Amino acid sequence: MAERLSLIDRVPVIPVVVLDEVAQAVPVARALVAGGVPVIELTLRTPVALACIEQIAKHVPEILVGAGTVLTPGHAADAHRAGAQFLVSPGTTETLAAAMQVTGLPHLPGASSVAEVLRLLELGYTEMKFFPAEVSGGVDFLKAIGGPIPHARFCPTGGISEANAASYLALPNVGCVGGSWLTPADALRAKDWDRIITLASWSTHAPA
Ligand code: 3PG
Repeated sequence: MAERLSLIDRVPVIPVVVLDEVAQAVPVARALVAGGVPVIELTLRTPVALACIEQIAKHVPEILVGAGTVLTPGHAADAHRAGAQFLVSPGTTETLAAAMQVTGLPHLPGASSVAEVLRLLELGYTEMKFFPAEVSGGVDFLKAIGGPIPHARFCPTGGISEANAASYLALPNVGCVGGSWLTPADALRAKDWDRIITLASWSTHAPA
């Protein structure tokens, strides 16, 4: 069984980052650290994602770098080889959960229904990604399942922003949220690292 280090109680917001150029990787990681967010989830949805993880793991040791959008056993193995320190999947099959466990890395498997949450609890997980959060019932869903299933804890992701993050973070079954709003595509394209530092700083004022 893989190590189940808590991922969801480290920072209020895990930045979900989509990069198109390897050259963006180290500056964006440094900007997040400068803004007070020492965690980054690099999504495996661009051809450069693994190279970005490698660069960050090598040059920005002060950040915890993980791979998101882990959809297949191959993604889990590739991300591990590239130096990812944690894995996040938007949904989970038993095959995918097993592959993530084989890496030995802490990971957050995804769920979006009561049955999926129960399945992950059966597999031994008590921390999971709730995705896609806003369209799957959002805060109301998490409140509703917190009664019967209080031991499942979540990182809601998908449709979260500065406007609604606090309402998620106030829930007892939410450890952190995930979102792309700390690293907007236009800021990345413009290499506007100061804007990313400012956006990241928001999360240092977020409710615990
Ligand atoms: C993800 O990619 O895991 C989430 O979809 C990010 O969602 P957001 O772009 O709505 O923050």
